[in-house]
Amino acid sequence: MIAPSLLAADFLHLEKDVETVNSHADIFHLDVMDGSFVPNISFGFPVVSAVAEIARKPLDVHLMIVNPEKYVERFAKAGASFISFHYEAVGSASGELLSRIKSLGVKAGIAINPDCPVEDIFPYLLQADFVLIMSVFAGFGGQKFIPESLERISKVKAELERMELNDVAIEVDGGVGPANARALKDAGASMLVAGSSVFKAPDPAAAIKAMREA
Ligand code: DX5
Ligand code: ZN
Repeated sequence: MIAPSLLAADFLHLEKDVETVNSHADIFHLDVMDGSFVPNISFGFPVVSAVAEIARKPLDVHLMIVNPEKYVERFAKAGASFISFHYEAVGSASGELLSRIKSLGVKAGIAINPDCPVEDIFPYLLQADFVLIMSVFAGFGGQKFIPESLERISKVKAELERMELNDVAIEVDGGVGPANARALKDAGASMLVAGSSVFKAPDPAAAIKAMREA
């Protein structure tokens, strides 16, 4: 699955950018940032609801916020079909929050930054629909892919196999594009989030196709 990240879209012409990838994307990735969990602020409910009105693919909301448990119902109502939150923001209550998200009829994901050992989230894999491995530090688009992320994906993949959790997907986010798509799939990622490499490309549809066929 290819998930264009709207953080790299042109906010003045958001409808146009959504339309550009509407028939090519598998899901839309929406980055919600609060200026506390990450040192950047992006957008919230009104933007998610507006995109939901025109998107023909499911919305994947990535919460980079403190206290995500306060807001999951509202993001589900705004139109999210996938919601992920950061393990670093929730800690040992992560299993419970994953279950709550699922009870809303939404796919539940646990996200982890590059400096947190992936083993820390192993206790929550049973409750998850997907795991979001950050391949840059959460907070900004357009950063360089951290190569060690490949090994982190493989480790999670191996643990999912060991636990026979074959339906749990691995999503990767940050610095993803046609150049590393093959290696990411080989490592075990099946959901590729791509912001700059799609929306800053001369032909976004071709960039998506290149990642799909990598
Ligand atoms: C970063 C966000 C990403 C971002 C990726 O904190 O979670 O989804 O949009 O942007 P690129 O693909 O440009 O690295
Ligand atoms: Zn993201």
